[in-house]
Amino acid sequence: MTRTLGRSPLLDSRLASASAHAKVILFGEHSVVYGAPAIALPVPGLSLTASARTLPGPVRIESALYSGPIADAPARLGAPATAIAETLDALHRPAADLTVRIDGSIPAGRGLGSSAAVASAISAGIAAWAGEALDEQTHFRLIQAAEAVAHGSASGLDARAVVADAPIRFRAGRVQTLPVAVPATFVIADTGVPGATREAVAAVAELLARDESGVHGIIDGIAAETQGAEQDLAAGDTPSLGRRMTRVHELLRELTVSNERLDRLVDSALGDGALGAKLTGGGRGGCIIALAESAASAELLAARLTRTGAANAWIVTAEDSTDGSAA
Ligand code: MEV
Repeated sequence: MTRTLGRSPLLDSRLASASAHAKVILFGEHSVVYGAPAIALPVPGLSLTASARTLPGPVRIESALYSGPIADAPARLGAPATAIAETLDALHRPAADLTVRIDGSIPAGRGLGSSAAVASAISAGIAAWAGEALDEQTHFRLIQAAEAVAHGSASGLDARAVVADAPIRFRAGRVQTLPVAVPATFVIADTGVPGATREAVAAVAELLARDESGVHGIIDGIAAETQGAEQDLAAGDTPSLGRRMTRVHELLRELTVSNERLDRLVDSALGDGALGAKLTGGGRGGCIIALAESAASAELLAARLTRTGAANAWIVTAEDSTDGSAA
């Protein structure tokens, strides 16, 4: 998704931009950290753009949160600042004479991959500005460097999903496009409260270390549902897919990564006719994802969820990529 907006033969007026979109995890959050498979969908309706331009002086960032030299940026911008510094380093460019502007709307801290998307757009935008191609592995490594600052060590699922153009299966660093027989329509509903991925990941690690209450069995259970979900998507069996989502929400609750607001939205979605619903992303805040019976009923479901307390709702469809290319 790299787009060069305009290039002048004059170094001083170089300008280039790149975009990235949000992602939503359908199955496998947390269990993916322990080598289980995960399924994620691109959310093309939520995207952001990073524009890089030449401006003499220190490296600067311009965003809704802060505009100024990255050396003085608040700690909240540590991940984008890392993406800028690491990309310049990878391209053997001096850390000067560059301004990176971020425009766009992926709500932060909601499990929708905003930090990975920002890092993806920044690194691709700077590479385009420098007139260089970023190979897939380098792009991934740069996103992961920023993700380490945002969330601590990350599985790499988000970094892969924000650049995918079709549903993906991710396992232990490997990614592949998932076949989807019949488009499935989902509603993402936001509790309005930021999630706590880092804390939730640490809590699961602690449970596993103590091996209390069959935690390994819960991880295995999520992995089994994820594998079943792949088959459901390939066969177009949405009722079965929905039941698996609701079962996985229960398993994630047992892992202590849900909370009252997430549970309430899941219950509302099921009460309003969703085929299944679960939290998505790191949990303890952020969003749920619910499977609508049909594309037509998704609008209604989104409206009802907003009435019963969701701060926002978005509709996303899982379908094979239109151009048939791999993720
Ligand atoms: C966060 O979007 C997903 C988690 O599984 C963490 C990770 O994959 O690194 C909770």
